[in-house]
This record gives sequence, structure tokens and C-alpha cells, in this order.
Amino acid sequence: MIDMLETRAIGASLERMDGKLKVMGTAPYAFEHRLERPAYLHPVQATIARGRIRKIDTAAAESVEGVIAVITHETAARLASDENKELWVLQSDEVHFRGQFVAAVIAETPESARHAADLVRVEYQPAPHDVSFRADRKDLYAPKAVNAGYPTDTDHGDAETAFEAAEVKVDSTYTTPMEHNSPMEPHTTVALWEPPKLTLFDSTQSVHSVRATVAKTLGLEVEQVRVVSPYVGGGFGSKGEPHAHNILAALAALRAPGLAVKLALTRQQMFCLAGYRTPTIQRFRLGATRDGRLTSIIHDVVELTSRFREFAEQTAVPTRLMYASPNRRTRHRLAALDLPKPSWMRAPGETPGMFAGEVAMDELAVACGLDPVELRVRNEPECDPESGKRWGNRHLVECLREGARRFDWSRRDPKPRQRAEGHWLVGTGVASSTYPRYVLMGSRATIRVGEDGRYTVLIGAADLGTGTWTALAQIAADALECPVEAVGLEIGDTDLPNATVAGGSSGISSWGWAIVAAARELRRLHGSRPPMGAEASAQTPKPADDDKLAQHSFGAQFAEVRVNAETGEVRLSRMLGVFSAGRIINPRLARSQFIGGMTMGLSMALHEESVVEERFGHVVNHDFAGYHIACNADVANLDAVWLDEVDDRSTPMGSRGIGEIGIVGAAAAIANAVYHATGRRVRDLPITPDKLMT
Ligand code: MOS
Repeated sequence: MIDMLETRAIGASLERMDGKLKVMGTAPYAFEHRLERPAYLHPVQATIARGRIRKIDTAAAESVEGVIAVITHETAARLASDENKELWVLQSDEVHFRGQFVAAVIAETPESARHAADLVRVEYQPAPHDVSFRADRKDLYAPKAVNAGYPTDTDHGDAETAFEAAEVKVDSTYTTPMEHNSPMEPHTTVALWEPPKLTLFDSTQSVHSVRATVAKTLGLEVEQVRVVSPYVGGGFGSKGEPHAHNILAALAALRAPGLAVKLALTRQQMFCLAGYRTPTIQRFRLGATRDGRLTSIIHDVVELTSRFREFAEQTAVPTRLMYASPNRRTRHRLAALDLPKPSWMRAPGETPGMFAGEVAMDELAVACGLDPVELRVRNEPECDPESGKRWGNRHLVECLREGARRFDWSRRDPKPRQRAEGHWLVGTGVASSTYPRYVLMGSRATIRVGEDGRYTVLIGAADLGTGTWTALAQIAADALECPVEAVGLEIGDTDLPNATVAGGSSGISSWGWAIVAAARELRRLHGSRPPMGAEASAQTPKPADDDKLAQHSFGAQFAEVRVNAETGEVRLSRMLGVFSAGRIINPRLARSQFIGGMTMGLSMALHEESVVEERFGHVVNHDFAGYHIACNADVANLDAVWLDEVDDRSTPMGSRGIGEIGIVGAAAAIANAVYHATGRRVRDLPITPDKLMT
């Protein structure tokens, strides 16, 4: 008999399987794989924001002891595809942004590579650059679509007229700064060219998309390229697609066959070469009846893209589904600037968009004299306002009510600036969270039966530090009805079956579904006790209900802050997130994901801001001395809980994905708490002391 307690692997708070290896330092990160004949690559970066390279003198660099080669746009191998201009590395004399790769040195030691890179002399023909991000620019344009394929603009009813006629109005502009993902492990590629085979040891959220993109860019067959990435020290979206460093490392490898050419970006290089979150300027208008029923929602977003390649963040997309209103309008407009390309950063779209929308809702609650929880409940839509589909599992109201109960919300004085403890003004705030349930097509899992009823599960999935190693083993054990110890998992290698990106909180949903499908196939072929040597393989199927159901996760965030009345310093003293995210595969790891997201939201609310210097066109605070991220001392009593829920219509595991929802709404809850503490409405992130003192 199979022990049912043992087989119920989903829902168990197992410790992370990779934890011990990481603590002992034996889990190899990209730079650390033991390889024979290593070489080191150090890039040379553009010192102008726009223009052309007139001349590059590499003689001094080449004469440094230990230098193997210097590559420039004149000497690097020619690439095959310029479809992605970010990856068009060392192919022309054009400079698109300050910090762009213009040359690189391959050497026997990192020190000689770096020293020689300093000796490369580049003469430029500068052209005027423009990095000025403003909403009043005359050249703002509407992209064809925004990230993840959403429409740029939507219109329902006549939002302008309804807003003008509304009994109560909020008309506010919110701004969020440029932010950098800043994972602890830098972006790293080790490239080894052993013709005809190119191997990349990479730090990535998707080995298979790195392989496909690198092969296409270099003009190689995908079978010629192998990407290995078993352990990743964070990504937050910045490792979701290959960047220029992947190609630079590959070009260096082509130049030095047989050598394992190692490139790890420095922290400072990561501020111009690894993506970032666009700054936003968001005008939010809400019209409502006196009793707080929305009659109009208007969300106009301005954000930036690089001039050489477009990225359009889907900032207004969550506004399309949060609340009921007969009239609604959303817009995205872009300023194309001479900056690096913005990219994904934890919940692109939802994160900045819900900051604006959920502070606007707080302003509306104040204007209507309504409790902010009650205002949200009153505007709960019966079906998805955008598509008209039924909700798969919308439990926002339960999250708000449960959070209010746990946070002792009923004792809150509705008026701001009513509580003080010494010099500290105390206030609380609430905001909603949401994130879509994405399942991506294209993952495949293979299960092999070994000795003693052991299984090997193969899928090229990624673990960014999020818990994939553990959660997928639990899912497999559940589907195979075996103890989790009987499952051997292999991930993070393109030699394994294809896996989609660890992005959009879609990883566990997509890969887990492929594993469940493969387990079912194995049983169909071989019964519930498959013999040694048996094997089955299956792909993630297309979710059956997606034409009928709107599948999203929801949550409610409650924050308590203390604001120093003398200095304007804000301390978060207490925060609670209540989430509805389907079935929780591993409570221990899920809590860490939720709290991690909330901490990143706290960081966004109070600390993070990349400052672009307009004269030179680069981020001046490009290190951890200047770019502040919440650390342990900033985090007080943070907790996350979730509704007990099994969502079988979202995935066969009943789960929906948890990587991103924790950040969504967190900054708004904190900003709303700062208003409640002080009576001051700060609409511009981060909420630094100067904004409260002036
Ligand atoms: Mo996440 S920003 O979709 O990797």
C-alpha cells in the first residue's frame, strides 16, 4: 500500500532541495562551473550617449601581458540577424546609449582583461542625445501593442463625459521612477566554442529562449547551442530574455575556440546593460457617485522606451479589470529616448499601474468619506469588465475582508493624522493586488522509471532562487503518487526537454502542467506501477477554459507606517498581505515569495530610484551605495497569508503562480498609510523624507 500521507507532496512545507548545496557553496552559479582553460572577458563601454565610433586604438591593450585578443566592431565575427537591435553587438560604429559595448578584451586573468580594457582608446563622433522623460513631449507615440500583447488603448462608454458629470472626482498624476532589478548574482555568461558546438553557462530565467535567440543571432542551428543554468541568484525579470552580454560572450568565444570565456557584468554595468523598469507618469481620473460607485475610470500613461528597440510596459492593463464602471478609458504613450532598452521587472505593468490606481482609490475614499476597504467592495465587478468573461476565481473581497479582520482595521480612525507616538505619526493603509494566471505553451516534460520505483523527471525549467527544484519535485510526486524522495529532478539545461521562461509567474503553472501530463501518459501506457525503463513525455496542453473564464489572482495589502514628524523618515512597522493564488504547492516557499514581493514593494515605496543625468545620459547612482534597496533593518513585522483554495480550472495542480503578485499594490498600501499618518499625499515615488518635509 502506498502511504497516502507521504504521497500528498503538494501542500507540504518542504525545505528547499537546493538549500544545503547553496549554503555549502557547492551549487554552481554560472561563473563557477569548473572548466578547463578559462579565459576572462572585460568589456569597453561607450562614453557618449549617441553618435558614432570614429576610431578605436587597441594597440596598448593588446600589448598587456596575458591578453589573448581585443574585439571591436571592426574585428568581431559578423552576426546573422539584426532583428533584435539590443543584440546587434559589435556590428557597427553606431552608439545608441551610454554604456553600450564598443569593444572587449579576452585575457588569461580578470585583472589583465580589465586593465587592458582601460587602455582601449575610442574616438567618437558624438551626436546630440535626448534622455528627457516628460509628459509634455510633442513626440509621444502610441505603440502597436503593449507588453504581453495587450491593446495599447481601450474605450468603454464615454469616459470623459462621465467624468465631467461625476458627483465626486479624483484627478491626480502619479509618477514612478526608473528602477533596476538588481539581482544578487550579476548577469553572467561563460561561452565555450568547440566547433561546431557553442556551450553557454548562463544565469537565465530560460535556457531554451537563450538558446533560440543566440542561435538565431549568430546564424547557428539550435542544435549547435547548449545553454546550462542549474542555479540562478535572482532575476526579477532581468534574466527573462538574453541581453547584449550573452552575444558579447559568444563573439569572444568564437574568437578564442577551446577557451571557456567568462563574462560577469559588474554591478555598475548592470545599470545600463541588463534592463530596468521604465519610469511612468500616470494621470488617473476617477468619477463616482456620492456613495462611491464608480461612473468613470480614465488612466493615461506615459512611459519610455529606447529609440533603438521598443519595449512598452502594460501599465494601464490592470485598470481594465479591477473595478466596475460603465465608462472606462486607458492609454499608453511612449517617449523614445537615447537610453538602454527597458524590460521586464517583477510584475511589469501591474506594479507601477496599481501604485497609481490604488492610491487614486484611496483618494476617492477620502473624497467620498468612505472606508477604503468598503469603497473597493462597492465597486466589485460581476464579470471581467474588459472581456465580459466570467471570473475563474475572483476573491478580492474575501482577501480585503480577511485582511481587515487580521489587521484590526475596524479600529482605524478614518481621519488622517490622528495617532502619534512621541515624534512618530502612525497611520495605516490598504491596497488591492492582482496578477494574471499565465500558462505558456511549449514546455515538455519527460519521466523515466528507474530502479526501486524511482523516477527521473526531465524539463529545462529554471530556478531563480524561487523554489522550482522543490516545487516541481512535489508536483511530480503528487502526480506519480510516490514519495517526493523517489523523484529525481533535472532542470536548467537545453539538453533537457523544452521549457518556457520563468516569467509572468507562469513557470510552475506551465512546467507543472507538463509534468502532470507526462505522469498521466506514463500511467496510461504502463499502469500505476510502471516497470523500470518505462518512459513517457508530454507537453503543456492549452488550458480548456480560457475562452470562457478570466483567470487572475488577487490580494489585499495592509500597511502600518511610522513617520517621523521632525525628519520625514518613514518606517514600515507592520504589513500584511492576504492572497488568493490558487492552491499553494509549498507554504514555506510560497510565504517567502509573497514576502519577497512585498519587500520589493516596500523598497519601491521608500527607496528605489535610478537617477538619469540628462547631460551625459546615464544612471549616476549606479551602485548599491547610491541605489537604495530595502534591507533587513527596513523590514519589520511582515506577514503573508492566503485563502484556502484549489483552482482546478487554472491548472491541474490547482495553483496559479505566486512570483509577482506580492509586489503588486504593496507600494500603494504604504503610500496610503503615509497619507493616513501625516495627511500628506505623496504621489511621486519613492517617498523620501524631502517629499514630506517641503
Ligand atoms: Mo517576471 S518580470 O515576468 O520575470
